[in-house]
Amino acid sequence: MTRINNNYLKLPGSYLFSNIAKKVNEFTAANPDKKIIRLGIGDVTRPLTPTIIRSLHDAVDEMADEKTFKGYAPDLGYSFLREAIARVDYKERGCDIAPDEIFVSDGAKCDSGNIQEIFSVDNKIAVCDPVYPVYVDSNVMAGRAGDYISSEERFSNVIYMPCTEDNGFAPEFPEETPDIIYLCFPNNPTGATVNKDALQKWVDYANKNGSVIIYDAAYEAYISEDDVPHSIYECTGAKTCAIELHSFSKNAGFTGVRLGYTVIPKELERDGVKLHSLWARRHSTKYNGAPYIVQKAGKAVYSPEGQNEIKGLVGYYMKNASYILNGLKEAGFTVSGGVNAPYIWLKTPQNMTSWDFFDHLLTKANVVGTPGSGFGPHGEGYFRLTAFGSYENTVEAVDRIKKL
Ligand SMILES: Cc1ncc(COP(=O)(O)O)c(C=O)c1O
Repeated sequence: MTRINNNYLKLPGSYLFSNIAKKVNEFTAANPDKKIIRLGIGDVTRPLTPTIIRSLHDAVDEMADEKTFKGYAPDLGYSFLREAIARVDYKERGCDIAPDEIFVSDGAKCDSGNIQEIFSVDNKIAVCDPVYPVYVDSNVMAGRAGDYISSEERFSNVIYMPCTEDNGFAPEFPEETPDIIYLCFPNNPTGATVNKDALQKWVDYANKNGSVIIYDAAYEAYISEDDVPHSIYECTGAKTCAIELHSFSKNAGFTGVRLGYTVIPKELERDGVKLHSLWARRHSTKYNGAPYIVQKAGKAVYSPEGQNEIKGLVGYYMKNASYILNGLKEAGFTVSGGVNAPYIWLKTPQNMTSWDFFDHLLTKANVVGTPGSGFGPHGEGYFRLTAFGSYENTVEAVDRIKKL
């Protein structure tokens, strides 16, 4: 008889976004005249920019002509895209990453969930708390996380690194040495970053202990401060300990188009095996490539016009982020993030729980955000607002919160 993968049964229900939707629906049904403003989602709202749209149209036309039609893409992705990535995201930043160390994919969610497959199930992972849930859940599915301890809201075999106000929402080295370390900067949900010296310490730590860092750089385009690294490969020695994940979702608005990439340097070996070879094997066996049309649009992101346009997109959202950050500060809230990230992390007032504050904001200001407790136990007492709405709605939402 067929048996299921029991590890899936260990996953606690993900009530966060369904609970939010349920509460919002109930409120809307009871108060149809109220205009709800949503600053909770991590999805973008601005349309794709003209250069990207033109490139998509051109690529569709190529598919209509037998002379330019394309079938399956090369395993690692088209070289026109990998070369553009290597040049703009790495070489121009002084990082030595070759095009054949870049694996094109359909986004960072899949890669961040799938990358654990190339490691033994015996490895122990460390994650930040609060955390983007995919890192933990994908390791639970693989049987690497142990059992869920519901009273502590944590898995028995995962090392949680608390990110709190006291440590500036940046993790400290854990007591127990992890084999795999997930880091994400700029961070979702806290919006925190680490400077180059701090990231260098993690790289040195991983090299010393033989650990591998999985570095999620999905929000790299939002960095505005000079000493915040855009890539972990800006740190010395990162090529022997780090894998880096990128997404086109938040910099270029590709959440619905789907494109991302993963970098695995050829120097990165464990047990005498190149991790690059393992991921190449996995990629060629289980994945057939991001669509040609989308990879062409990805290339357009790296053209001078594309780069200018996406700076405009990021600038639009960061204007929202500043408005939220400054407005809430003026209103007396304790807030962080929002400078190098599209997320604002605010401390709930009067020791309210994250969910109590959610209800308060929904009913009194008709604004929807995300309770911090949904990202891990150390998110309790915090609340995430995103800068991905329209400027008009953002201004209105903040002005309403100020009047509470
Ligand atoms: C930290 C982090 N990594 C990865 C992703 C997923 O990115 P993609 O749209 O490329 O799958 C998100 C999306 O919200 C994210 O917050």
